[in-house]
Amino acid sequence: MPISSDVKIGDDVRIFHPDLVNLYGCSIGAESKIGTFVEIQKNTSIGRRCKISSHSFICEGVTIEDEVFVGHGVMFINDRYPRATASDGQLQTENDWTVVPTLVKRRASIGSGAVIMCGITIGEGAMIGAGAVVTADVPDGALVAGVPARLRAGDPFP
Ligand SMILES: CC(C)(COP(=O)(O)OP(=O)(O)OC[C@H]1O[C@@H](n2cnc3c(N)ncnc32)[C@H](O)[C@@H]1OP(=O)(O)O)[C@@H](O)C(=O)NCCC(=O)NCCS
Repeated sequence: MPISSDVKIGDDVRIFHPDLVNLYGCSIGAESKIGTFVEIQKNTSIGRRCKISSHSFICEGVTIEDEVFVGHGVMFINDRYPRATASDGQLQTENDWTVVPTLVKRRASIGSGAVIMCGITIGEGAMIGAGAVVTADVPDGALVAGVPARLRAGDPFP
Protein backbone atom coordinates (compact mmCIF):
# COMPACT_ATOMS: atom_id res chain seq x y z
CA MET A 1 0.00 0.00 0.00
CA PRO A 2 1.79 3.22 -1.10
CA ILE A 3 0.09 5.44 1.50
CA SER A 4 -0.82 3.61 4.69
CA SER A 5 -4.16 4.38 6.34
CA ASP A 6 -2.30 5.53 9.48
CA VAL A 7 -0.70 8.53 7.72
CA LYS A 8 -2.04 11.88 8.96
CA ILE A 9 -2.29 14.20 5.98
CA GLY A 10 -3.07 17.91 6.45
CA ASP A 11 -5.25 20.07 4.24
CA ASP A 12 -4.09 20.71 0.69
CA VAL A 13 -1.10 18.37 0.86
CA ARG A 14 0.01 17.47 -2.66
CA ILE A 15 1.39 14.00 -3.29
CA PHE A 16 2.16 14.01 -6.97
CA HIS A 17 2.07 10.23 -7.56
CA PRO A 18 0.35 8.56 -4.59
CA ASP A 19 1.03 5.15 -6.09
CA LEU A 20 4.78 5.84 -6.29
CA VAL A 21 5.54 6.83 -2.71
CA ASN A 22 5.83 4.78 0.48
CA LEU A 23 4.37 6.60 3.47
CA TYR A 24 3.43 4.97 6.77
CA GLY A 25 2.92 6.01 10.39
CA CYS A 26 3.90 9.62 9.70
CA SER A 27 2.23 13.03 9.64
CA ILE A 28 2.41 15.60 6.87
CA GLY A 29 1.45 19.20 7.54
CA ALA A 30 -0.94 21.28 5.49
CA GLU A 31 0.10 22.48 2.02
CA SER A 32 3.25 20.38 1.89
CA LYS A 33 4.34 18.75 -1.37
CA ILE A 34 5.71 15.22 -1.62
CA GLY A 35 7.58 14.12 -4.76
CA THR A 36 7.74 10.77 -6.48
CA PHE A 37 9.62 7.78 -5.00
CA VAL A 38 9.76 9.35 -1.55
CA GLU A 39 9.68 7.08 1.50
CA ILE A 40 8.60 8.51 4.85
CA GLN A 41 8.67 6.04 7.73
CA LYS A 42 6.73 5.80 10.96
CA ASN A 43 7.28 8.20 13.84
CA THR A 44 8.26 11.05 11.58
CA SER A 45 6.67 14.43 11.28
CA ILE A 46 6.73 16.78 8.29
CA GLY A 47 5.64 20.35 8.97
CA ARG A 48 3.43 22.71 6.99
CA ARG A 49 4.39 24.08 3.57
CA CYS A 50 7.41 21.79 3.19
CA LYS A 51 8.72 20.52 -0.14
CA ILE A 52 10.07 16.98 -0.13
CA SER A 53 11.62 16.32 -3.53
CA SER A 54 11.68 13.02 -5.37
CA HIS A 55 13.74 10.02 -4.25
CA SER A 56 14.32 11.24 -0.71
CA PHE A 57 14.28 8.91 2.30
CA ILE A 58 13.00 10.23 5.61
CA CYS A 59 13.50 7.58 8.24
CA GLU A 60 11.93 6.92 11.59
CA GLY A 61 12.85 9.53 14.19
CA VAL A 62 13.13 12.53 11.88
CA THR A 63 11.18 15.69 12.70
CA ILE A 64 10.93 18.32 9.99
CA GLU A 65 9.44 21.66 10.98
CA ASP A 66 7.46 24.06 8.76
CA GLU A 67 8.64 25.46 5.41
CA VAL A 68 11.61 23.12 5.04
CA PHE A 69 12.98 22.26 1.60
CA VAL A 70 14.36 18.74 1.11
CA GLY A 71 16.08 18.27 -2.25
CA HIS A 72 16.19 15.15 -4.40
CA GLY A 73 17.68 11.96 -3.06
CA VAL A 74 18.34 13.22 0.44
CA MET A 75 19.14 10.41 2.89
CA PHE A 76 18.45 10.61 6.60
CA ILE A 77 20.03 8.11 8.99
CA ASN A 78 18.78 6.86 12.36
CA ASP A 79 21.27 4.13 13.33
CA ARG A 80 24.97 5.01 13.61
CA TYR A 81 26.27 1.42 13.82
CA PRO A 82 23.73 -0.64 11.84
CA ARG A 83 23.80 -4.44 11.82
CA ALA A 84 21.61 -6.88 9.93
CA THR A 85 21.67 -9.42 12.73
CA ALA A 86 21.85 -9.52 16.50
CA SER A 87 24.76 -11.21 18.30
CA ASP A 88 22.94 -14.56 18.08
CA GLY A 89 23.02 -14.37 14.28
CA GLN A 90 19.28 -13.87 13.93
CA LEU A 91 17.88 -10.94 12.01
CA GLN A 92 17.61 -7.83 14.17
CA THR A 93 14.23 -6.74 15.46
CA GLU A 94 13.17 -3.34 16.74
CA ASN A 95 14.30 -4.49 20.20
CA ASP A 96 17.91 -4.83 19.07
CA TRP A 97 18.62 -1.20 18.22
CA THR A 98 17.55 2.32 19.16
CA VAL A 99 16.39 5.06 16.82
CA VAL A 100 18.59 8.16 17.04
CA PRO A 101 16.38 11.19 16.27
CA THR A 102 17.13 14.18 14.05
CA LEU A 103 15.50 17.62 13.94
CA VAL A 104 15.32 19.96 10.96
CA LYS A 105 14.17 23.38 12.05
CA ARG A 106 11.88 25.79 10.29
CA ARG A 107 12.84 27.13 6.85
CA ALA A 108 16.00 25.06 6.54
CA SER A 109 16.97 23.77 3.07
CA ILE A 110 18.79 20.54 2.30
CA GLY A 111 20.48 20.21 -1.10
CA SER A 112 20.11 17.18 -3.33
CA GLY A 113 22.06 14.08 -2.47
CA ALA A 114 22.89 15.20 1.06
CA VAL A 115 23.30 12.60 3.79
CA ILE A 116 22.17 13.67 7.25
CA MET A 117 23.76 11.60 9.99
CA CYS A 118 21.66 10.78 13.06
CA GLY A 119 21.35 12.81 16.24
CA ILE A 120 21.70 16.07 14.30
CA THR A 121 19.86 19.37 14.62
CA ILE A 122 19.79 21.49 11.49
CA GLY A 123 19.13 25.06 12.56
CA GLU A 124 16.40 27.42 11.48
CA GLY A 125 16.97 28.76 7.98
CA ALA A 126 20.20 26.81 7.49
CA MET A 127 21.29 25.77 3.99
CA ILE A 128 22.95 22.41 3.29
CA GLY A 129 24.91 22.13 0.03
CA ALA A 130 24.20 19.42 -2.51
CA GLY A 131 26.07 16.22 -1.74
CA ALA A 132 27.03 17.24 1.79
CA VAL A 133 27.49 14.69 4.54
CA VAL A 134 26.25 16.42 7.67
CA THR A 135 27.92 14.95 10.74
CA ALA A 136 27.32 17.68 13.35
CA ASP A 137 24.68 20.20 14.36
CA VAL A 138 24.22 23.09 11.93
CA PRO A 139 23.66 26.51 13.57
CA ASP A 140 20.64 28.65 12.73
CA GLY A 141 21.13 30.46 9.42
CA ALA A 142 24.40 28.68 8.58
CA LEU A 143 25.51 27.57 5.11
CA VAL A 144 27.39 24.25 5.15
CA ALA A 145 28.71 22.07 2.33
CA GLY A 146 31.18 19.31 1.63
CA VAL A 147 32.18 15.97 3.12
CA PRO A 148 32.11 16.25 6.03
CA ALA A 149 29.99 19.39 5.86
CA ARG A 150 31.79 22.53 7.00
CA LEU A 151 30.65 26.08 7.53
CA ARG A 152 30.95 28.28 4.43
CA ALA A 153 30.76 32.01 4.17
CA GLY A 154 27.58 33.27 2.58
CA ASP A 155 24.03 34.11 3.30
CA PRO A 156 21.62 31.20 2.95
CA PHE A 157 18.90 33.69 2.06
CA PRO A 158 20.68 36.15 -0.26
C1 LIG B 1 26.19 25.20 -1.34
C2 LIG B 1 25.54 26.20 -2.28
C3 LIG B 1 24.30 26.84 -1.64
C4 LIG B 1 26.60 27.26 -2.54
O1 LIG B 1 26.13 28.17 -3.48
P1 LIG B 1 27.06 29.45 -3.82
O2 LIG B 1 27.31 30.20 -2.54
O3 LIG B 1 26.42 30.18 -4.93
O4 LIG B 1 28.43 28.76 -4.21
P2 LIG B 1 29.34 28.94 -5.50
O5 LIG B 1 28.75 28.22 -6.65
O6 LIG B 1 29.66 30.41 -5.63
O7 LIG B 1 30.65 28.18 -5.03
C5 LIG B 1 31.45 28.68 -3.97
C6 LIG B 1 32.46 27.60 -3.61
O8 LIG B 1 31.78 26.51 -2.98
C7 LIG B 1 31.97 25.29 -3.71
N1 LIG B 1 30.71 24.59 -3.67
C8 LIG B 1 29.52 24.99 -4.18
N2 LIG B 1 28.57 24.08 -3.93
C9 LIG B 1 29.17 23.09 -3.25
C10 LIG B 1 28.71 21.88 -2.72
N3 LIG B 1 27.42 21.52 -2.82
N4 LIG B 1 29.59 21.08 -2.07
C11 LIG B 1 30.90 21.44 -1.98
N5 LIG B 1 31.39 22.59 -2.45
C12 LIG B 1 30.54 23.41 -3.09
C13 LIG B 1 32.38 25.74 -5.12
O9 LIG B 1 33.17 24.75 -5.75
C14 LIG B 1 33.15 26.99 -4.80
O10 LIG B 1 34.44 26.62 -4.36
P3 LIG B 1 35.74 27.50 -4.70
O11 LIG B 1 35.50 28.82 -4.03
O12 LIG B 1 36.88 26.72 -4.13
O13 LIG B 1 35.78 27.62 -6.19
C15 LIG B 1 25.10 25.53 -3.62
O14 LIG B 1 26.24 25.25 -4.44
C16 LIG B 1 24.34 24.24 -3.41
O15 LIG B 1 24.89 23.14 -3.28
N6 LIG B 1 22.97 24.41 -3.38
C17 LIG B 1 22.05 23.30 -3.27
C18 LIG B 1 21.34 23.11 -4.60
C19 LIG B 1 20.38 21.95 -4.58
O16 LIG B 1 20.72 20.86 -4.16
N7 LIG B 1 19.15 22.19 -4.99
C20 LIG B 1 18.13 21.14 -4.91
C21 LIG B 1 16.99 21.29 -5.88
S1 LIG B 1 17.45 21.40 -7.57
